[in-house]
Amino acid sequence: MAHQPGILAGVPPHAAFVFLDLRHGVAPGTGLAELAAAEHPDALVVGLGPSLLGAASIAGMGPMPALTAPGVAIPSTPTDLFLRIAGADPGEVLHCERAVLASLPSFEVVDRVDGFMYADSRDLSGYVDGTENPEDRAAEVALAPDGSSVLAIQRWVHDLDAFYAMPRVRQDHTFGRDRDTNEELDDAPATAHVKRTAQEGFAPEAFVIRRSMPWRDARGAGLVFLAFGATLAPFEAQLRRMTGHDDGQVDALFGFTRPVTGATYWCPPLAGGRLDLRALEG
Ligand code: HEM
Repeated sequence: MAHQPGILAGVPPHAAFVFLDLRHGVAPGTGLAELAAAEHPDALVVGLGPSLLGAASIAGMGPMPALTAPGVAIPSTPTDLFLRIAGADPGEVLHCERAVLASLPSFEVVDRVDGFMYADSRDLSGYVDGTENPEDRAAEVALAPDGSSVLAIQRWVHDLDAFYAMPRVRQDHTFGRDRDTNEELDDAPATAHVKRTAQEGFAPEAFVIRRSMPWRDARGAGLVFLAFGATLAPFEAQLRRMTGHDDGQVDALFGFTRPVTGATYWCPPLAGGRLDLRALEG
């Protein structure tokens, strides 16, 4: 079955992350009918929040897990609908977004953030992001057998002053990689981000396809973390270990950055160039 092509495409130069709710008083069925009728450009990824899935049970889908780490509560800020619109430049993104929103009048935008690619796909801390994505088997990792996918997204706000005030070795040990060479550092502490999230280090192994992008606006700057999986389980396992739930070690990332939003979405398969919502019937 066909999947939304944006799920497997690499990180685009620019993207808009748009969060929507059904307008007050609109029945979910009306919104779903609009979604099923709308044309689906390749630049678009659509995700349905738990509230739009109704009574349908989608295997492997669930809400953002309620987890805490010392001083940090992982936020859960679900919305009914999510759109990611990719483009070569912000103008292209804007025009595609306008066309998509015009086809979905039952929904209103409640939050949005623009993302961009920084240098050779780096986080604003300067570290290359996405190196360990299993691109050679991306479809198997990101897609369920029916072509659908489960997406987890969080907007993280960085304290870049705090990060760049750290000695360089502490910056490298926050991630567990050398910023210049991108080599993994064997002597990094257990709290280093790549030691927390080493995908083959989970039982079962916890692989996802990450398509995170930096963002900046009047609210600050940071990373829009975005991961696709056949189910939510690998993301949840990684987040549990980052927040110290497996062994008490909390990810060093929390020393300079915090998630301020977090939500999960089910990305339906496509049929005939439109979203295939048959899994929600009956
Ligand atoms: C501000 C937040 C974050 C930043 C700046 C960040 C950055 C990075 C960087 C620089 C790497 C190393 C290169 C790579 O393999 O991509 C990495 C690896 C990774 N990150 Fe993150 N990350 C963030 C949040 C998260 C979250 C929330 C998760 C999942 C819950 C996660 C999961 C992973 C995974 C699975 C890897 C690869 C680990 C491996 O198998 O070696 N990251 N991240």
